[in-house]
Amino acid sequence: MTGGARHLYVHLPFCAHRCGYCDFVTVVGRREQHAAYVDALLRELELERGLLADGLGTVFVGGGTPTFTSLPDFVRLLEALPAAEEVTVEANPETVTRELGQALREAGVTRVSLGAQTFQPRLLEVLERVAQPDDVRRAVHHLRDVGFDNISLDLVYGIPGQSASDLEADLDDALALGPEHLSCYELEAKPGTRFTHAWGAELARQADAMEDYFERVVARLTGAGYRWYETANFCRADAEGRDLRARHNLAYWLGRDYLGLGIGAVSTIENTRWRNAPRLGRYLEALAAGRRPERDVEQLDDEVRARERVMLGLRLDEPLPVRGLRSALDAEGLERAEQLGLAVDRGETLALTRRGRFLGGGVTAEIVA
Ligand SMILES: C[S@@+](CC[C@H](N)C(=O)[O-])C[C@H]1O[C@@H](n2cnc3c(N)ncnc32)[C@H](O)[C@@H]1O
Ligand code: SF4
Repeated sequence: MTGGARHLYVHLPFCAHRCGYCDFVTVVGRREQHAAYVDALLRELELERGLLADGLGTVFVGGGTPTFTSLPDFVRLLEALPAAEEVTVEANPETVTRELGQALREAGVTRVSLGAQTFQPRLLEVLERVAQPDDVRRAVHHLRDVGFDNISLDLVYGIPGQSASDLEADLDDALALGPEHLSCYELEAKPGTRFTHAWGAELARQADAMEDYFERVVARLTGAGYRWYETANFCRADAEGRDLRARHNLAYWLGRDYLGLGIGAVSTIENTRWRNAPRLGRYLEALAAGRRPERDVEQLDDEVRARERVMLGLRLDEPLPVRGLRSALDAEGLERAEQLGLAVDRGETLALTRRGRFLGGGVTAEIVA
């Protein structure tokens, strides 16, 4: 054991309603179970505490809609979690009031990630979102009012019916709010969701246009002074010199160890990865009886970890140090990628070129053995 994991993920699965495109581990409503779930999370934390380092770098409370959890239980959880340099909470805009913002601040939260998705009402309807554009603006203002100086917005692009000018308008609307950080994801048709049933064929038809949309996102955000530090993530250069990258996610991309708590949560510690079963009832039952929840456990050998390290590391804008990772590279694939101007091998480090970063996963698949 190397001093313990410095990164903790906590999953709060409750949502007011299920958006058609989402396949995260979520549970609709169940207000009467929020308190029991928080009790179970805290028990799980006690059982696993030995896996954590004494001082944590990051805590990320994700969902679901963490801010839909009944407020006293949510605050009780936040106050019981170990302190960390960065503590992020995911929030849905319509749940953010000034009081909620204040409670998050007082409980030690340093960063809030808001799911805006789009600012076009008709596209919000396609996504079955509850929050309207003004809810996003109001949420940002409340969070600023109570002192948050690290806010991230999530946008998705490729929504059926979204024109290139709709996307440009979304980027303008997001930038007008001055977030420190932006995540911009291409909308994925997740198997088995209502959305894929209704719109899967349309997403497949428009797939070719997505490269252009991705380029527009990068051009607009880098033009506005944001750093394109990861395939789908951008951060502002801070006047006070703060590094505004999402440090928790950075830990995943850098292959660090992390502990995950809650239903569906994944942990990776040294060469073991486990995923808690996604069933709420069984999770509550196990922890109420003082047992660890059911989980799938996978042993990762050094080769698997090295390949993951390359695949994730190449998503970042900083060259990847490849010492110890050469066996995970396909020499011929790498040479082809270099000849096509998609990758640069400097011996000590490997990086994708700008063009290579746009092509992303396709290039990485060529390079990895
Ligand atoms: C785990 S979700 C939870 C966030 C929060 N509950 C919300 O809805 O805003 C985090 C982010 O993943 C992204 N996301 C979810 N489903 C997606 C999909 N099918 N394709 C692309 N991005 C998706 C959205 O941008 C969302 O804000
Ligand atoms: S997108 Fe967010 S709010 Fe909608 S169901 Fe998924 S986790 Fe819940």
